[in-house]
Amino acid sequence: MVDQSELAFRMLCRRYGTELAYTPMLQLGCSTRECGGLGALNRRFSMQPKYRKEQFSTCPEDRPLFAQFCGDDPQTVLKAAQLLPPGSVDAVDLNCGCPQGIARKGHYGAYLLSEPDVIEGIVRTLDQELSVPSTVKIRLVNDRELQASWNLSRGEVFEPVLEGGPSGEWGAGE
Ligand SMILES: Cc1cc2nc3c(=O)[nH]c(=O)nc-3n(C[C@H](O)[C@H](O)[C@H](O)COP(=O)(O)O)c2cc1C
Repeated sequence: MVDQSELAFRMLCRRYGTELAYTPMLQLGCSTRECGGLGALNRRFSMQPKYRKEQFSTCPEDRPLFAQFCGDDPQTVLKAAQLLPPGSVDAVDLNCGCPQGIARKGHYGAYLLSEPDVIEGIVRTLDQELSVPSTVKIRLVNDRELQASWNLSRGEVFEPVLEGGPSGEWGAGE
């Protein structure tokens, strides 16, 4: 969780039985369209070493660890994942669960669920290029428009981390 699941909190959770922890969602953002001027800000994991250092720290006991990114462009997500210290994570996760307004503006998170081709492109790229597995966090939804994403998650393209939450909650934070 952003501003919550940094190293100290992960280690605390592990002490009380957590078996798998995620980094906060690491911002890198959208490619070009629908970015609403957020482009530079949203590429900060790739382009800002200070942000990278602040947001990603780990230690040998901090395992297993999944790094979570958001984004809508396969190469941008891949390049960000490749900036992680070698061997520091056990998987890379794409956040397709965030329903907040900033995700809509940035063209990432749950707003990609209606664009399964975008998700598939990112996952295929990560699968081909990274030595660790990739996962996708999605929301459980009933909306028929999202049937394609749901089908995708049930197929063999990727293994999602599923999470509840009615689609009516989308748009929170706007
Ligand atoms: C402050 C805050 C930060 C969050 N950051 C992330 C995040 O970085 N990655 C993520 O997948 N979900 C994040 N979430 C969502 C939670 O992990 C979780 O999915 C949510 O709070 C519970 O589901 P709901 O939104 O349906 O209530 C965040 C939630 C909050 C309140």
